[in-house]
Amino acid sequence: MTERHIITARPVTDVPPVVEETLGDDERAALKTRIKQLLRARDAILLAHYYTSGDLQDLAIETSGCVSDSLEMARFGHAATAKTLIVAGVRFMGETAKILNPEKRVLMPDLHAECSLDLSCPADDFAEFCAQHPERTVVVYANTSAAVKARADWMVTSSIAVPVVRHLHAQGRKILWAPDRYLGDYVQKATGADMILWQGSCVVHERFKAEGIRDLKREHPEAAVLVHPESPAEVIALADVVGSTTQIINAVRDLPQPTFIVATDNGIFHKMREVAPGKLLLEAPSGGRGATCVSCAHCPWMAMNGLRSLCHALETGANEILVDEAIRTQAVRSISRMLEFAATTGVAVRGRSGD
Ligand code: 13P
Ligand code: SF4
Repeated sequence: MTERHIITARPVTDVPPVVEETLGDDERAALKTRIKQLLRARDAILLAHYYTSGDLQDLAIETSGCVSDSLEMARFGHAATAKTLIVAGVRFMGETAKILNPEKRVLMPDLHAECSLDLSCPADDFAEFCAQHPERTVVVYANTSAAVKARADWMVTSSIAVPVVRHLHAQGRKILWAPDRYLGDYVQKATGADMILWQGSCVVHERFKAEGIRDLKREHPEAAVLVHPESPAEVIALADVVGSTTQIINAVRDLPQPTFIVATDNGIFHKMREVAPGKLLLEAPSGGRGATCVSCAHCPWMAMNGLRSLCHALETGANEILVDEAIRTQAVRSISRMLEFAATTGVAVRGRSGD
């Protein structure tokens, strides 16, 4: 019997343009004041990702919310007593928050805020791929839908992917990994595990160019190169530090170098400037010399989060994240496995800002 050939990754062609919110000073101040009132009135707390605008990140800190990665946003929300979580990020972050906090209302500024990794991995195709490899342990990255997490044995974030896969490899397990092929390749090389990879990619990180980074490094030989592992292997090969958003931010704060070339979404520079004000931060070239780029080092879906849309969601209760209960109870198992692993091994899943 011949197996149907599974195309592991749906092409993501309809990437929206990056549209930043533009606000005058008066409107910005008025929106911030109104959002602060609404957060109190709605018993809500703001959880913002490092790639969102500086306005949103500042607002989260000023209102005792948090700025962090997706998982820590959800864990922070879980520990908070607020009845509503408003998640400024992309949809899978809102879904993860809902999966871990089913009793809370989860809102997002814009439900169109997707992620190319999530979009590349439709649950039905993924289930079929898994069914063709029943002997493999299914490990998925956080950047997936609730339905894909429900099909997985483990969910991991970028900071804990290597320790989890190393642990599974030591038990003799073979891995089916999805959806990011670059992160999967990085984890495979780091652990030596037998892995088959879904072929998804991040439209932001896959555009970083090794040649451009080498050119920049020639101009700034003192610089350390920091790379998020969603980047291509030849970019990762140039890195002094490969890590999650929090690990990269900590590197800027802790390393002695005065200059950093940073290969991740440029929203992260807001937090980096705060933790290391005297250091020179350079964006790693994206799209090549003279080329147009799809993302220009900024996620178009993250950019959909703005003060106006945040205010609207809080005002009206629009954009609520709902997850089917049968899917949620399955998905929570793969997430909980990772949390328990992190707790028992002492591996930090992620840090957060605003403590
Ligand atoms: P974290 O690495 O902070 O979890 O962000 C997820 C992401 O989408 C990176 O592109
Ligand atoms: Fe997804 Fe890439 Fe945007 Fe992160 S930066 S949310 S991986 S598309």
